[in-house]
Amino acid sequence: MSTPSVLLGVNIDHVAFIKKSRETSYPDLINAVKLCENSGADSITIHLREDRRHIQDDDAILIREHCRKLNFEMANTDEMIAFALKLKPDFCCFVPENRDEKTTEGGLALNEMTRDQENLFKKNIDILEESGVEVSLFIDPEEESVEKSKQLGATSIELHTGPFAIGYESNNYQNEFQKLIDAANLANSLSLKVNAGHGLNYQNLSQIMKIPYLNELNIGHAIIAESIFIGLDDAIKKIRRIIDNSD
Ligand code: PXP
Repeated sequence: MSTPSVLLGVNIDHVAFIKKSRETSYPDLINAVKLCENSGADSITIHLREDRRHIQDDDAILIREHCRKLNFEMANTDEMIAFALKLKPDFCCFVPENRDEKTTEGGLALNEMTRDQENLFKKNIDILEESGVEVSLFIDPEEESVEKSKQLGATSIELHTGPFAIGYESNNYQNEFQKLIDAANLANSLSLKVNAGHGLNYQNLSQIMKIPYLNELNIGHAIIAESIFIGLDDAIKKIRRIIDNSD
């Protein structure tokens, strides 16, 4: 089988959420990891949130031991940097975090930082990159955010596709889509890897596949929702087919 040109990261936070909601030992997260990998996921994504609403510290450590490639989403806090250095994921994606949000709501506000905050951010990225963890920054598709990601020393950006996904529902997505294309072109010209995610699903994915220079897509909610009806294996294969057939 030829190597797929766009990688698929599957976010399993929603599986962990079911486990956490009843404090049970099931569903088994390692089973989920293995199923995802065997069905076509190139990496597993987890987000250890400050409020621990889904993935727990022990889950993260166990998942690291059992998965091939781990993408660890986290807020830029001392606690999370220390945890990431212990966990040693393959990738870290810095995301903004707000306790009251249902899910990550926007990209990092990189251009609203003071000089001190910027220096600290850069230092944390350097620490992780030097320890062998590739750092990605979850940003809105704006020119200034792409440029700032480069200045801060990130290897990759993850473009926030949430507003595009909302617009797609009412067939009003062209503006957001153009922003994604422009941001991807700029990122590539700055030698940043281009990842994208949030709100991607079986309907809007073909359009997203038209973005140039895509390296990896991170998808969670739609896959886990679809797995209720067709099982996790088929839900991943179905999304994989859209990615592969769009190449
Ligand atoms: N990428 C990032 C940075 C996210 O925070 C999330 C949601 O946890 C995703 C991708 C996946 O989004 P969704 O669950 O809507 O597919």
